[in-house]
Amino acid sequence: MSFDSMWATLEQVGRHPGSGGYRRYAWTEEDAILREWFTGEAAARGLDLVEDRVGNQWAWWGDPDAAAEAGRAGVVVGSHLDSVPDGGAFDGPLGVISAFAAVDTLRAAGFVPDRPVAVVNFIDEEGARFGVACSGSRLLTGVLDATRALSLIDGDGVSMAEALARAGRRTDHLGPDPEALRRIGAFVELHVEQGRGLVDAEQAVAVASSIWPHGRWRLDLEGEANHAGTTRLDDRRDPMLALAEVITTARHAAHEHSCVATIGKVTVAPNAVNAIPSRVTAWLDARGPDESGVRAVVAEVATASGGVSEESWTNSTAFDPDLRDRLVSVLGGVPMLATGAGHDAGILAAAGIPTAMLFVRNPTGVSHSPAEHAERADCLAGVDALSKVIADLAGPDRL
Ligand code: HGY
Ligand code: MN
Ligand code: MN
Repeated sequence: MSFDSMWATLEQVGRHPGSGGYRRYAWTEEDAILREWFTGEAAARGLDLVEDRVGNQWAWWGDPDAAAEAGRAGVVVGSHLDSVPDGGAFDGPLGVISAFAAVDTLRAAGFVPDRPVAVVNFIDEEGARFGVACSGSRLLTGVLDATRALSLIDGDGVSMAEALARAGRRTDHLGPDPEALRRIGAFVELHVEQGRGLVDAEQAVAVASSIWPHGRWRLDLEGEANHAGTTRLDDRRDPMLALAEVITTARHAAHEHSCVATIGKVTVAPNAVNAIPSRVTAWLDARGPDESGVRAVVAEVATASGGVSEESWTNSTAFDPDLRDRLVSVLGGVPMLATGAGHDAGILAAAGIPTAMLFVRNPTGVSHSPAEHAERADCLAGVDALSKVIADLAGPDRL
């Protein structure tokens, strides 16, 4: 199936008619359709589909275990298929579709890899349902404990354990999968750029240099439920006022420490128009070029809110410099860009796997929005770049 037909098929899945954005969350019906699509694409190419202990899907061209035994571990490309609520069409799927299309390109050119090649679909990269980003790659590499993961709860109070069971999956062997990791000689994730670096550089494709350190923290702000119409202002304990102060504190601290900070998710109890809330829960997303700045932002927010609890943290990721420079050279000197967006590639890099990323130009830079876009010509330039990278890395004596 060509890039266009894969794109046309996938863009129908999980799109919300009202917002035009996508709602593709881990272990939901939409996710099952996406996984089925991935299985079909693998089968259509005669790729061997393997699921690891977490449920990440790997479509192999060649025998990864024999090759790993022989010291020729495989070249893996791909990304994720899940989305943030009302996310765009490109964040994740562009990397998976481009990976299948790159395999098609190489086969059409008669390329025979000297080591296995795989297309991967990482489960739950956005953490939209259970709150921990990159849960699939974090579980795979052991940085997210399976017991903690299984106990994570979604907005409807459903645990990941329950969601897995409803999806017909066993929960007893969820955990790190060294077998799956051993098969990977290098991982290259192609992703739509979530910024305007390529627009400014007037180029279609870039190589990633690093990922900023970033994390997520939960804040619980207690109040006192009371009547909106009869409670005097002086008698109120309104957590919404505390939230207002926390949000402005986060913004000022981010500015002061050259970081970014967002409070994009808030739950209010009882969430009634005519009731002063008893409790407000909010989530802080803070990121920046260096860890000390991010930690300083979080410390100021913690002071303003009476404390925060860290839900996930990702150290600064510097991608493998040799691999990074090789990709720049294979692609004829494309730009290198840092990013503030987290990716499974960052989690694998932290696990010691030689990892790189390719970015494809996004004309507005907008992401995590229905407005996210990449021009078809740039998407095809990404496929071409990925094909060249695979041919180089999976060619004889190249890794
Ligand atoms: O949040 C992120 O940076 C990524 O999109 N999961
Ligand atoms: Mn994303
Ligand atoms: Mn992504």
